[in-house]
Parts: sequence; C-alpha cells; structure tokens
Amino acid sequence: MSTLSIVLAGHVDHGKSTVLGRLLAETHTLPEGKLEQIRQTCERNSKPFEYAFLIDALRDEQAQGITIDSARVFFKTKKRHYILIDAPGHIEFLKNMVSGASRAGAALLVIDAKEGVRENSRRHGTMLSLLGIRQVAVLVNKMDLVDFRQDRFEEIRSGYTTFLEELGVTPTGFLPVSGATGENIAARTDRLAWFDGPTVVEQLDAFGEESPPGDRPSRMPVQDIYKFTRFDDDRRIVAGTVNSGGFSAGDEVVFHPSGKESRIRKIESGPDRISAGMAAGCTLEEQIYITRGEIMVRKGEPSPAMSSRVRATIFWLGRVPMDKKKTYLFKLGTAKVPARLEKIERVIDGATLATSGGDSTIGRHAIADVVLKLNRSIAFDEGEALPETSRFVLVDEYEIAGGGNVKEALEDRPAWVGKKVRVRNARWEKSLIVPAKRAEKYNQRATLVLVTGRREAVRKKVAKKLEQDLFRDGRVTYYLAMGNVVYGVDADLRGKEKTGEEHMRRLSEIAHMYLDAGLILIVSAIELTQEDLDIIRTGLGQERITTVWVGDEVTTPLIPDVIVGDGKPAEAAERIKEHLRERGIIFRPW
Ligand code: GTP
Ligand code: MG
Repeated sequence: MSTLSIVLAGHVDHGKSTVLGRLLAETHTLPEGKLEQIRQTCERNSKPFEYAFLIDALRDEQAQGITIDSARVFFKTKKRHYILIDAPGHIEFLKNMVSGASRAGAALLVIDAKEGVRENSRRHGTMLSLLGIRQVAVLVNKMDLVDFRQDRFEEIRSGYTTFLEELGVTPTGFLPVSGATGENIAARTDRLAWFDGPTVVEQLDAFGEESPPGDRPSRMPVQDIYKFTRFDDDRRIVAGTVNSGGFSAGDEVVFHPSGKESRIRKIESGPDRISAGMAAGCTLEEQIYITRGEIMVRKGEPSPAMSSRVRATIFWLGRVPMDKKKTYLFKLGTAKVPARLEKIERVIDGATLATSGGDSTIGRHAIADVVLKLNRSIAFDEGEALPETSRFVLVDEYEIAGGGNVKEALEDRPAWVGKKVRVRNARWEKSLIVPAKRAEKYNQRATLVLVTGRREAVRKKVAKKLEQDLFRDGRVTYYLAMGNVVYGVDADLRGKEKTGEEHMRRLSEIAHMYLDAGLILIVSAIELTQEDLDIIRTGLGQERITTVWVGDEVTTPLIPDVIVGDGKPAEAAERIKEHLRERGIIFRPW
C-alpha cells in the first residue's frame, strides 16, 4: 500500500483538529477503549468532550507514537496509508511544506460554515497554490451550526471557488461536514441527504498519488558527503533524499550546478533501486569533488536550471518587512545561500489578491513577484513541474520569514563572456601535469582570493600580508594589484572601460592561468560588485573563488564569503587563512 501526505489548513478554530479526531475514530485507528477513556476523563473534570482533545491526549502519550507524533497523524483506509499534517500556524505550515520529512501531496482546507471564509482561509489557499499543491479539497465544517442548510454551503462554495480560481487552483472537492456530530466524515447521513458528493474518507482515497513513479525526472539533493572511516578507503558516500524519479546502481549521474559526472557504484543503504521519498546513500565509481546542496540527476534526463539570479513568487511572514538592504538566507532543497532582494515586480495582498506596484519593501503576509540575487549559482527546477526542487524558504536572522517558488532562472552574467570562455576551454592545451598532482605537491587547491572593500579600507595591506603569511608557510602564492593589470594588459582600454566588463574578463583570464599553474592568486580591488564577480566566475567557476570584504559594512551589493575588520591586517590575514583551511583550500602542514 502507498502513502499519501496531506496537510490540513484553515483559519484558527474552524475545526481542523476536530475533523482529524473524527477521522481517527471512524477509520478505527484508535486503540481499543481510547475514546471511552477520554470521554470519561472529560466527564470527571466536568468539561464537555471534544474530538480535538483526542489529538492532544494522543500527542501526550509517547506510547502512541505509531498513531501520532508532534505534527503528524497516521492512519489508513482500505486503499492506502495517510499522514495528516496539522499545521497550527503559518510558519509551521511553511516548514512542513518545504521540509522533506512531511511534504504534502494534497491539502484539506477547513472552513467554518457559520463564520464563513476568513483571512487565513484565503491566505492558506494562496500559500498552497504558491507551493505547488494542486489537489485541494475544501471541507465546509460545522454544518450542524447552520442546520445543514444547502444554500449556506453553496454560498461558501461559490465565493471560495472564485477566489481559488483567481489563484489558478481548481478545488478537487467541496464537502459539507460536521466534525463534532460526525456528518459526512466516514459515512453519509440523512441530514446531508441533498449532498451527493463523497465523504471525507472517499475524498482522500480519490486524491491522486503523490508522485507517479518513474514519470518525473530524477532529483536527489545532496545532503552530505560521508567518508568511510577505514584508513585506506577513499570512498565517499553521497547521502540525500530522493525527491522525484529514482536511481539504480550503475546509473550515470550528473551533479548540478558543478556539472560533475560519475556512475553510481552501489546504493549502500539498502535496495538496488531508490525512488521518491527514500533517504539513501550511494557510492560512485569515480571520486569527484561535490558538495552539499548540489542536485544529483540521472544523465540523459532533463537537467535542472541553474543561476545565481531567479524570478520567484514569495510570501513574506516576517515581522520586519523584507527589503533590499538586507541579506537573507535562501534555502532550496539542501542548498543554503545568502541572497538579496534585487527587485520587487509587484506586491499582492495574500487575503484579497489586490495588487500594487512600486513598493520598496514587502510587508507581513504579502505575496510578491520578485527578482532574487543569490551569492552563488545553485540548481533548481523552474515553475510547477517539480515543486520539491523549486520551493524554498527565506531565513531572516535565524528564523524562517518567508517562502516561495522559483518561477525562472534569469541571466546572471553577460552572455558574450560565457561564449568566449567556452571557446577558450575548447581550445585549451592541457599540461601533462594534472591539477590534482600540483595540488598534492603544493598542499593547496588553486584559488583566487579577491580582497575588496571601500576605497579607504586597508585592502592592499591585508592582501599583501596574506601573501607574505602564505609564502612563509610554504604555499605557492602571488599577489596581483589591480593597477598592475590596468596599466599593463589593459593599456589599450580607455576611461570607463578600465573598470568595465572587458577589464573584468581579462582579469579572470589572467587568474585562470595562475590557477592552472596551481597557485593561490590574491587580487585586491576597490568595491567589487556582484556583477564584477559574475564575470570573473564565468571564467573560473565559482568553487575556485573566495571573496573577502575588508571593513565592517558591505557597501556594494556583494555577498562576500568572509568579512574581516578594517585596520588590523595581521588578524585579517589569519581569519582568511582559517577560512581557506575550512574550505579545504590549504591543507596540512599549515
Ligand atoms: P486551531 O488548531 O486552534 O487552529 O483550531 P482547529 O481548527 O483545530 O479547531 P478545533 O478542532 O480545535 O475546533 C475549534 C472549536 O470548534 C472547538 O470548540 C470545537 O468543538 C468546535 N467545532 C469543531 N468542529 C465542529 C463542528 O462540526 N460543529 C460544531 N458545532 N463545533 C465544532
Ligand atoms: Mg487544532
């Protein structure tokens, strides 16, 4: 039997927990005598019995772990197993939608028949649509409070259907129910005789499968790389959870965004084939350097998109509005990258869907179409096809403050530079000494360290001190001042060209040669921007660049890897070395 995860949504007190309690009771999921026991407890304490108490009571009993845990309730029908996720608030809701553990394939949205559609009924509908949940059944609950009247049900149905349609969501079902009195949960009753649709249980069974096996491209975000502990064993286990499709031993795989390829040697964690929803670890035929956050894909299947600039639809839940000055953490799959808001295209009120333009910030509960600039390229899927690899959350000061869906990858570097780099790569004459041999000999991985900061900052002092320290430690390193490029290689460039795209392209070509020779090249430049960095990256690849900002405040829209204080070059150089060690760029002996 298969398992389907379903998220419960709806305005506060509209009856989610009650419906859930009923479902447990009526699908005979409860342990023998449980219901009676809770009824008696209520009686003893002279408070009226509530199905919602059932959920709380079960939650308190660790022994009931199979029926319920902190946010999830497990039960089954004749057709399949269900995990119902009760999301008490917006943030929990978002976490549940984006975290792999309890990703929902469908939703039940509960609306109180008496109170009607409220703010959060609409907001939750909007969030479901943004997160790519296409199967939504609406339960008009508490029908007992409106005398099971059909006209009241129809009124809510027509109003809310119109709202959902504006979001592009067609409800899978619209059901009148009463959690408290049990109408239409697992059985039909006379009081709703006018309704000829399904019961809640029938509705659940009518939902489509979460991921039709095999017919979606394979995706496994890399969670971690483990080393075998035995001394002479150099194998690495690539661990993660399969989001869609599946993988087998022997499959040729590509990792994005690095583009590195290998073949799966063995699925170390169990069966020969792993598919959507399974956590797994596998070893590869060839040892390649990949990192957490990359997405493993089967070769020959459609590749994910890749960029450091994306157009996305987000909803903002943070108390403090989202603005362009701040850096946020963008988490998609297992990738985590600092990000900034580059542009707000339009802002939509999550409850009324009214739009506005020209906003400079995004307030709480608003939805917005935006352009986000990430500090490096990551892989993801565009649009609706594979929601698991296009949903993301935004973290502000350690707390989830928003979430959304990537709509499209945007150009993040001038195309002409990329074209020249491709030609250079195709024509590049390779040395007989492979990069790994140089790395082994020099105890370092070739890297460009870009030291930047404000005009007045002691960038050069930091860069030169770093060169001196690395040299003293036995590293093969070279410091190149920007002026040395401008008056030499750039001698034919005029005026503004000397700081423009062509200048950056030349710098990246020079760096490319130094790096090919195995060096740690240190370059200092005034107020480098993200655009400058994008050009340099095009020539070198992002994993071979380390950016350092000197000074307390980053004054350009650059998202640096390391920030060091101004005025103490020795300390700054030490801090940079520490970072290089952490990233495995310099290794023992230090
Ligand atoms: P939160 O978790 O706080 O968002 O609320 P909830 O949506 O889980 O609602 P809950 O199930 O706790 O129900 C809220 C109140 O509505 C409780 O007092 C229930 O007894 C009552 N209630 C729920 N369903 C029904 C119903 O079908 N009929 C009637 N009359 N009352 C109901
Ligand atoms: Mg509840």
